[in-house]
Amino acid sequence: MFEDWYLNDLFSSKIREIWKLTDYYLLKCIFNILDETKILNHLNEFKSIDEIIQINNYPKKVFSAIKWIFDRLTLDDYLIKERNSDIIKYKLSDKKMVYDLDKLENLAVQSAPSSIAAFNMLKLISDNYPKYLKGEKNGVDIIFSPDNIQITNEYYKNNLFYNVHNIAGAKILNWEIDNHNDPCVIVEIGGGLGGGTCEFIKQRQKSAQQLKPFKYYFTDIANKLLRSTKKDVESLSDERSNFEYKKMDFNKPIIDQGFEYNSVDIIWGVNAAHVANDLRFTLNEFYKSLKTGGAIILSETVRPVGNLMIQQELLLNTLDDYWNVKLDKDLRPVHGFMEWENWINALKVIGFENVQTIPDMKYLQSKYDNCYVAVIRGIKG
Ligand SMILES: C[S@@+](CC[C@H](N)C(=O)[O-])C[C@H]1O[C@@H](n2cnc3c(N)ncnc32)[C@H](O)[C@@H]1O
Repeated sequence: MFEDWYLNDLFSSKIREIWKLTDYYLLKCIFNILDETKILNHLNEFKSIDEIIQINNYPKKVFSAIKWIFDRLTLDDYLIKERNSDIIKYKLSDKKMVYDLDKLENLAVQSAPSSIAAFNMLKLISDNYPKYLKGEKNGVDIIFSPDNIQITNEYYKNNLFYNVHNIAGAKILNWEIDNHNDPCVIVEIGGGLGGGTCEFIKQRQKSAQQLKPFKYYFTDIANKLLRSTKKDVESLSDERSNFEYKKMDFNKPIIDQGFEYNSVDIIWGVNAAHVANDLRFTLNEFYKSLKTGGAIILSETVRPVGNLMIQQELLLNTLDDYWNVKLDKDLRPVHGFMEWENWINALKVIGFENVQTIPDMKYLQSKYDNCYVAVIRGIKG
């Protein structure tokens, strides 16, 4: 179900082609960071990350971010890695960096204008990385500063690569609605700037589904995002009474925030659940909120077999919340983005039934190695 659509329409040939250019762009941006900070000079000799931190007097918390950029360059053979007992050291290889940022961007944008959002975000983050490494700025300062907010808005709402999350999640949500009685009660968690919500509405408007009654609670922890999404939804649809905007922190009991247990038909979220501080607690809350027969639908960035180091991490590594999560070997084995199998396992551990990815990720990844979005669905039995 939906496999052909995912492989042909969602991950179109355009996305597959331009994706490569963003990867080259990322590598050049990382090189620029290392050049600007003079780390590049130090890498003429083997150096550990701790040594780099010490030489530059950086705060210890940037260790993982530096490790990520070093490992990303190693993956493409720009660095070589040497392990001596527990200490890993890196050194520049002979491979030359030949990419030109403007050329790559122009090439991509000519063929797909909406790919510019991804380039702009990579540029924004890498330009600010030297300050991040010195502890002078963090990711929130960078992406939510009034000067940069437009780049962030475009990244999450009008971005060839990120849109895939919204389109996939909304498609499965629109399919799921028909499995529930009217009026179907939907709660969107961590809705952010409303990219998924708007896509859900647009898909309904394109099809006869728009007549099915539903009640939609758009939620997020940030009031500002509730207001901006309300404005966007109202400019798209006059089904105003169907939508309600409520602040909800999914790290806290839902019952204390104006929701009843056993009352929701569908809980869904786009790239939000992985932010939960304690995923076991949060998924349990979602489970309790659903009626028997209710569905959870999570559209999440996952680690594709051919691209384990996900580009978004250059940005996410600068956000404290990305690291500040409780690990749980049965349910949340790693920080940040998980593999789709980890999500299947997590929902099963909570007690969800018929847990699956729609479309089937096992099949998709046998055909294409960069399936970086999975929609995971489970049912409360
Ligand atoms: C990566 S963004 C995804 C936003 C949106 N769904 C999208 O795909 O564009 C994660 C969202 O989770 C929200 N968030 C973070 N912590 C949260 C929490 N504890 N409870 C609810 N939402 C939270 C953030 O405000 C942000 O909007």
